[in-house]
Amino acid sequence: MRRPIVVANWKMHKTVPEARSYLRRLIELVGRDPGLDVVVLPSFTALPAAAEMLVGTPIALGAQNAHPEASGAFTGEVSVVQLTDLGVRYVVCGHSERRHLFGEDDALIGRKVQAVTAHGQVPILCVGETLDERRAGRAWEVVARQLEAGASELGDDPRGLVIAYEPVWAIGTGVAAQPADAQAMASQVRGWLRDRFGAKGDEIRVQYGGSVKPDNAREFLSLPDVDGALVGGASLDPGAFAAIAHAARR
Ligand code: 13P
Repeated sequence: MRRPIVVANWKMHKTVPEARSYLRRLIELVGRDPGLDVVVLPSFTALPAAAEMLVGTPIALGAQNAHPEASGAFTGEVSVVQLTDLGVRYVVCGHSERRHLFGEDDALIGRKVQAVTAHGQVPILCVGETLDERRAGRAWEVVARQLEAGASELGDDPRGLVIAYEPVWAIGTGVAAQPADAQAMASQVRGWLRDRFGAKGDEIRVQYGGSVKPDNAREFLSLPDVDGALVGGASLDPGAFAAIAHAARR
């Protein structure tokens, strides 16, 4: 059985003091043994403080992005090596905001996934179609292309890979996917993972993301092919995020 994984993507929110007070509360709410993987993705600036606070807790630390090169002349970027040094265990690769607002392409995202894996961390590869692509009946074609490129440098071993299916039109809009549509896509993703990685594909966790809230979390987290949630807006409040995490318990 796949262990559920619930991830808080804070995006560009919270100062260091705000991050500290959030985490103090979240640590209390999550308890010692949540029975699932709970991950928080602060901004780069709050990672050192968060790393310190999360030692000895069941909450893991992740980053929202990373550059695939270990070091070099890449002004404004942060490398996977630098993140490893901080105790980061998960790195999001190819979030739709990176793809659409910052022009990241499939090839770069494939390199990120490979670099994260090579440093023993877990890549969370985000995939998802826009509304136009869905309306044109191209949702699966787009997601399949993103999976293909994202996993293109992994060889036969996906290691800890996590996939987050986040339809672009559901992100930050308050309009979540229909659970049946999320299940249909997660099941297609699972089929693809099985074809690509054989039996190891069955161990890969597939999350749903896009307007997940405490009141709809259980609908998504109880779907047979959905193993967790990637949460934006609702993750900014520790109480709401903890409620979503509790809804993922099996
Ligand atoms: P919202 O939960 O705010 O829709 O954001 C989803 C997301 O982008 C998580 O990565």
